[in-house]
Amino acid sequence: MDSDDGATGVELVPTGIAGLDAMLYGGIPKDNQTIIAGGPGAGKTLLAFEFLYRGAKAGQTGIFFALEEDPKKIVQNAKNAFLNFDDVDEFIDRGRIIVSGRDVTVDMDRMEKGSSLEFGHMVGEIEDAITSYKATRVVIDSSSAIELIIKNSAEYRRSMWALVANLRRLGVTSILTSELATSDKRRLEFRPEHFIFDGMIVMYQSGEEKRRVQSMEIIKMRGYKHSFVTAPYDITPGGFKVFSPESMTT
Ligand SMILES: Nc1ncnc2c1ncn2[C@@H]1O[C@H](COP(=O)(O)OP(=O)(O)OP(=O)(O)O)[C@@H](O)[C@H]1O
Ligand SMILES: [Mg+2]
Repeated sequence: MDSDDGATGVELVPTGIAGLDAMLYGGIPKDNQTIIAGGPGAGKTLLAFEFLYRGAKAGQTGIFFALEEDPKKIVQNAKNAFLNFDDVDEFIDRGRIIVSGRDVTVDMDRMEKGSSLEFGHMVGEIEDAITSYKATRVVIDSSSAIELIIKNSAEYRRSMWALVANLRRLGVTSILTSELATSDKRRLEFRPEHFIFDGMIVMYQSGEEKRRVQSMEIIKMRGYKHSFVTAPYDITPGGFKVFSPESMTT
């Protein structure tokens, strides 16, 4: 169930991720489009998958569009990481979680014919699937794959803007993953497309002498308050655990 902030009337979609909802003071505002950015192996795909899994648990239908990896691999990796999620297959069988894919290398081959046309086809497929499955949670993994189809930066930005506008019009709460060139918070550089999204969460990895520390930060979340703390996280068999001060006090 979505929750409602009685004071402001903002309808919130809880991510269901332990600690992250406390940082979001309840969840992501409904219909917000959020980008999750991070370096390689930060856990972007797994976090996005858990968002859909927690939605399915709450009776909501979610679609995962895998543009980088085979959909079967996405599900297998999620099941391997989240050993306690023993009902993933059941949700997939019941159509609560749909993991759909598109091989962008095919689009790359056709690029010469007009990248915006290919991108248009992809957006059309995404829209059709959202409408026919009546999905309310959507994941697109990743935007970096879209960038491979659309190399011109102005065209890429325009296309991302159109994608976000379409998702908003369809009334879904979505997560789009995005690769960052650095995992280091001090070297974080914003890109033009980061400004298009309603929300942005960054996953960092910092190299300590003996152990890598992973943390996440909510850069922005339009329409609602959020934590400004950078909180450590762990990927556990029971899902992500985000250790935010907010989650310690609630
Ligand atoms: N069973 C597990 N237990 C704990 N952590 C795991 C487990 N399986 C994978 N991981 C962690 O999750 C990471 C992979 O997560 P994920 O695929 O979501 O990353 P990503 O940010 O999407 O990476 P990429 O940019 O390569 O797509 C691994 O690098 C590892 O650190
Ligand atoms: Mg990934």
